[in-house]
Amino acid sequence: MIVNSQIEEQAKQTALQPEQNQEFHWRQCWYPVCFVQDLPKNRPYSFSLYDEPFVLFRDENGQLVCLVDRCPHRAAKLSDGQITDGKIECLYHGWQFGSDGQCLHIPQLSTDAKIPANACVQSFEVVERQGIVWMWAGEREAAVDGYIPTIEELEKPEFVTTDVMRDLPYDQFSFTSISRRLTP
Ligand code: FES
Repeated sequence: MIVNSQIEEQAKQTALQPEQNQEFHWRQCWYPVCFVQDLPKNRPYSFSLYDEPFVLFRDENGQLVCLVDRCPHRAAKLSDGQITDGKIECLYHGWQFGSDGQCLHIPQLSTDAKIPANACVQSFEVVERQGIVWMWAGEREAAVDGYIPTIEELEKPEFVTTDVMRDLPYDQFSFTSISRRLTP
């Protein structure tokens, strides 16, 4: 009986551990944004997460870049702009931003003037995995690549997939659902 009670106590403590040790923060997660195949070529792609606006584009090396979709100058949407030599250019006054969100060009500045350090946009870690674009909503340094869920069967040639993306209305925020059907 002593052994049984010890086992029960251990089981109770084990059951409690996950909740005690886990502190969920929505920013410390990977979020699926869209299928890679749905990204426009050489144009910005805008999306939102919990009502925060973000923009995706490819830099001059073809690497995906994810920035806050708000120009630090007058808050215009960067996604309304264009991609110029792998930089995103604001439609309003033409400021250009690079892959780390740093401002690389301000047309109104004289050539010898320094670009202010605060003329930058926050950037986020973004990864392509199994045909899906994932973004990490927190600090880039905290992103853990291994947390991105993968499906082993997607790598097998005998499986075909049907990819579906749709927006679903919910009370607090709209929600984009990405789903895949696997057929052996
Ligand atoms: S609002 Fe973007 S450059 Fe002025």
